[in-house]
This record gives sequence, structure tokens and C-alpha cells, in this order.
Amino acid sequence: MRLLFLGDLVGRSGRQAAVDVLPGLVEANAIDFVIVNGENSAAGFGITEAILQEVLDAGADVVTTGNHIWDQRDTLVYIERQDRLIRPVNFPSGTPGRGANIFTARNGARVLVVNAMGRVFMDSLDDPFTAVERVLDSTPLGEVVDAIVIDMHAEATSEKQAMGHFVDGRASLVVGTHTHVPTADHQILPGGTAYMSDAGMCGDYDSVLGMEKDEPISRFLRKIPSGRFTPAMGDATVCGVAVEIDDRTGLAETVEPLRLGGRLAQVLPTGWKAC
Ligand SMILES: [Fe+2]
Ligand SMILES: [Fe+2]
Repeated sequence: MRLLFLGDLVGRSGRQAAVDVLPGLVEANAIDFVIVNGENSAAGFGITEAILQEVLDAGADVVTTGNHIWDQRDTLVYIERQDRLIRPVNFPSGTPGRGANIFTARNGARVLVVNAMGRVFMDSLDDPFTAVERVLDSTPLGEVVDAIVIDMHAEATSEKQAMGHFVDGRASLVVGTHTHVPTADHQILPGGTAYMSDAGMCGDYDSVLGMEKDEPISRFLRKIPSGRFTPAMGDATVCGVAVEIDDRTGLAETVEPLRLGGRLAQVLPTGWKAC
């Protein structure tokens, strides 16, 4: 099966670029399953139910999140009825929503999507490794599901790489989000799990992590907030990673980055059409 994962949508620019490009991409390249990280899609902070619906309508099968999941207060309520919205699995027990769920892809494959959040330079949550282990134990690849994707939402590349190797051979893809910059280390790990430290944001790269530059620069210079962070509104680059998964084993056959539009050099997976 063919799977596409897009990194954090940042603000209207990133969201619109992804929504514009997804239907054509899915159609032209026979993509079986699409996952999008939506934690910054509502003006940089969280995701509203209307935006979630917009992203799902454009062709996303699942929307993952991260530390910004609760920035929009309503999310605590509507996440209970939106089973395609996934929050980090290692929040304390009793947290609303789900950290993992099983979905059916367009080719009929059963896909487990897990969202985990790192703890290095981030809020202290439950151990993400133990939490992921628990999910994989109850939903083994090749038995209960045909593919497993883990969105490892973390600041430290060390923690993301450790998660990749921790589940190597037991998941189809481990992809990092949160740092908003695409990395060049996409590879298939020795056990067959596709890995990339950061898919990169879908957003305007003439920015500081998708935000207008002035306020972040000012805070670095003066250490005093002088305004709010607002998303940069220039043309966005849609960034992500594409994986071909062996239908028999659930492990990766190929992993390639995708970068479309905006300021970054354009990259299409081998044989793909832009639209
Ligand atoms: Fe983010
Ligand atoms: Fe984040």
C-alpha cells in the first residue's frame, strides 16, 4: 500500500496549501492512506472541529497532533466524537480522546495510527516508549493490522531515533513531527521500519518555524514578549514523507520525502505526479 504523511500544518497558509494539493495528489498517485499532523492548523495553535473537517474532506484519513492539542478549548469536548483525531497516547489515563486507533485504508488494509509525545525539552508526560509498547503488544503488525504508523511528536532527534529503533521491525513507519523542519535522514531501518526524524511543517518557510519572524527574533534579542506569535502568511511548502508498504509483511519497501510549493526545493517521490 502507498501511504503519505504530512507534517504539522501551520496556520492558514500551511492548511490551505495542504487542502489544495491533497485531493489531486491522492487521485493522481493512487495513495491508499493519508495522515496529517494538524496541531498548529488553527492560527498556529491547536485545531478546531471545522478545520479538522476541512482537512478530512480534502483527503486526510487521520489527523495527529502533539503538545498544542488542547490550545482550542473545544477540542476537549469534540475529540470524543471525532475518532479520526488522535492526541498523544502518553497523556495521563483519563485524558479525553484516543492516542491510537485502527482505520481502513482505500485498499482495504487495516492501519493502526499511534501518536506519541517526547519528554526531552518538553512537558513531562508518561513514558512514550512504554505507552507505544503497550499499543503494539495489543495490536501486532501482520496479525491484527496490516500497517502501523507512529507519529513521534518530539523536540529531540535522539528521542525520535530511539523510538524508531525501539519499534524497528514492528511498525511500518516512525515519523517525527513538532520541530517543523524536514530532515534528510529518511531511511528504512535494519528491521524494515521506515523512519524520518521530521517530516517538516506544511507552512511558509520564510518564517521562524512557521511564525512571522519579528516576534521570535525580538524575543531572542530582548527576552521580553512584545506581541503574539502569528503564522507567516506567504506561500507554504507542503512537506511530508511517502512510504510504500509491503502488503504481506507491513514493513516498508521505500521511503521518500515530498516537498511541494513555497520556497523549499521541490521533491516528489519517484514516479509521482504533482497533481
Ligand atoms: Fe507543531
Ligand atoms: Fe508540537
